[in-house]
Amino acid sequence: MFNRDVSRKRADWVPASVVWTETYDEVLDASPDVVVEVVGGVNPAHQWVSQAIERGASVVTANKMLLAAHGPELLKAASSAGVRLRFEAAVGGGVPLIHGVREGLAGDSLTGVAGILNGTCNYILSRMSATGEPMDIVLADAQRLGYAEADPTADVDGFDAAAKLVVLAGIAFHRHLKLQDVPRRSIRPLSSADFQYATRLGCTIRQVSRVQATGTGFYGFVGPVLVPQGSSFGRNEGANNVVSIYGRYGGESSFSGAGAGGPATAVAVVSDLLALTQRGTRSEAEEWTPATFVAPPPMPYYLRFVVKDQPGILATIAAALARQDVNLDAVLQEPGYPKDRLPFVITVEPCAETALLEALDELSQADWHADPPLALPMLLGQDS
Ligand SMILES: NC(=O)c1ccc[n+]([C@@H]2O[C@H](COP(=O)([O-])OP(=O)(O)OC[C@H]3O[C@@H](n4cnc5c(N)ncnc54)[C@H](OP(=O)(O)O)[C@@H]3O)[C@@H](O)[C@H]2O)c1
Repeated sequence: MFNRDVSRKRADWVPASVVWTETYDEVLDASPDVVVEVVGGVNPAHQWVSQAIERGASVVTANKMLLAAHGPELLKAASSAGVRLRFEAAVGGGVPLIHGVREGLAGDSLTGVAGILNGTCNYILSRMSATGEPMDIVLADAQRLGYAEADPTADVDGFDAAAKLVVLAGIAFHRHLKLQDVPRRSIRPLSSADFQYATRLGCTIRQVSRVQATGTGFYGFVGPVLVPQGSSFGRNEGANNVVSIYGRYGGESSFSGAGAGGPATAVAVVSDLLALTQRGTRSEAEEWTPATFVAPPPMPYYLRFVVKDQPGILATIAAALARQDVNLDAVLQEPGYPKDRLPFVITVEPCAETALLEALDELSQADWHADPPLALPMLLGQDS
């Protein structure tokens, strides 16, 4: 058992025959059949996992950041060395998602992956949706309850989910999307008013991670989107994960359960170990070739403005959208808000994201914004 400061961490229930060390070379010198990496982070985990593979050990890891950054290289090295690299715990915690996609759906030609991959965001958004509380209160509670880190950036700004999405794309398509290329939007700007308006549209808001194969490449994103209240995403509460995999022949298959937490994650790690003992050291022989993102197809969008009210605002917005051939669908305004911070919502028909961003860029010059406008894609009928 390798760790730092082992005298503090030595546990009574671990059999006395287990050797504890603070030196990784001692682990390698013991010529292990399997190394389990649960230290996290890209470095030094990358070096340690590479060394284990070079020395002929299979590796079980829970490390999504390592796989998102170096998955292709490590899979290739494992294949060349005739060992295996397994990482069930890296995405979806205890949910047997990777096994399900790799083996259960091997017979299909997969077209897309969409899921709620970050339990912290889902806890925050499902609670805001249920109670109407603002983000800062719910985030502080999530930190107090241990659902969110003291620095919540990796979760709320989408880095954690983006790394998981890169790993899922590798499994589903055998292609490697670069972590830094995943379009990410934070959940931070969401307000109680957004949930009120989403409800009026029969929707709620969730952080969704999505990657879809097209004829020419992949499009995808991580960020808050409107989803129908009755859909599997809309009904997913608390820190749970839910992932839908779309296949050309089998349609949609869903996986859900505890996406994090020690016991659930340990189940995934031990399951990987059992799979290795049952099947020896046959190589996975899996390669992820490089892939890039392309523009998403037209989608309907939810646009939330918070303005210092004055005549002509709606006409200005409609004109800017019309100049980009973006058609209005509905205008919603709840009563009871102050005139100097008045939120209202415009939904637009399916349009190119670039056209919408052009219109919003033009509108950003206006002096009547009290908050920057918020644009959320509406995933209607994709995941239900
Ligand atoms: N926790 C979950 O629910 C969960 C779910 C799915 C996947 N994962 C993944 O599992 C991995 C571990 O997560 P965790 O939550 O278990 O983290 P953690 O509680 O911080 O555990 C990491 C352990 O590794 C030790 N460690 C870290 N860097 C080290 C170094 N340079 N040398 C020696 N020991 C080192 C840490 O020691 P110190 O305590 O001294 O820092 C700690 O004992 C991550 O890749 C994470 O993404 C976790």
